[in-house]
Amino acid sequence: MFITFDGTEGGGKTTQINALCQRLQQKNIPFIQTREPGGTALGEQIRHWLLSQAMCSDTELLLIFAARAEHIETVIKPALAKGEWVICDRFTDASYAYQGGGRGLDFARIQKLADWVQGDFQPHLTFILDIPVELGLQRAKKRGLPDKFEQETLAFFQRARQVYLDLAKQNPQRCRLIDGCRAESDIRRQIFDALCAHDAPCQFGHAFGGGGDSFLSE
Ligand SMILES: Nc1ncnc2c1ncn2[C@@H]1O[C@H](COP(=O)(O)OP(=O)(O)OP(=O)(O)O)[C@@H](O)[C@H]1O
Ligand SMILES: [Mg+2]
Repeated sequence: MFITFDGTEGGGKTTQINALCQRLQQKNIPFIQTREPGGTALGEQIRHWLLSQAMCSDTELLLIFAARAEHIETVIKPALAKGEWVICDRFTDASYAYQGGGRGLDFARIQKLADWVQGDFQPHLTFILDIPVELGLQRAKKRGLPDKFEQETLAFFQRARQVYLDLAKQNPQRCRLIDGCRAESDIRRQIFDALCAHDAPCQFGHAFGGGGDSFLSE
């Protein structure tokens, strides 16, 4: 299973990813936890540039997809081929939301790069944690100094949030829109339920064992 988490800042992605990975570990389900931009040695260097340095929007988009190409080919696909779950913090939806919605880049261009780098390769499930922008930024602020993206305007994040909402609507098979304002434990339950209910043909489905209940139980 290839599972991605997305959404604007502070929605609870990292919190929920950690909870899911803990559960996978308890269940002895092999997995890797990774993130974008990043996930490879080269990708983490690119991430550092992206978060720390001013650059034009096209450069930003191209660097993100360069990191993504490396990540898919050298980390994600090999892990899936070994039967491991891949849990990824942000993926291509973030490029539409931040570079498309936020920066105003043409969606058709982003689509071209996605076609080039991914072809038909898509996450099995994507959890989009939706939260009002102000609340998410307040939460994220607690972590310390803001990075380049966290210094963007409210309008930037509001545009990004709207794109996430649109993506969730346009891709109901793959995306699950989750209200990030709910209690952590409610969200966790919703995510586990969705994973158990996921019936797309998937070679990793056997990991649920005798059905969803075995995955949900502590
Ligand atoms: N459901 C929730 N209710 C209240 N607080 C939460 C909830 N989920 C996470 N938090 C808190 O909000 C803060 C941000 O959460 P987290 O780091 O998981 O978000 P994130 O989506 O990964 O953020 P970023 O986009 O900045 O990486 C943390 O302090 C976390 O403990
Ligand atoms: Mg995070």
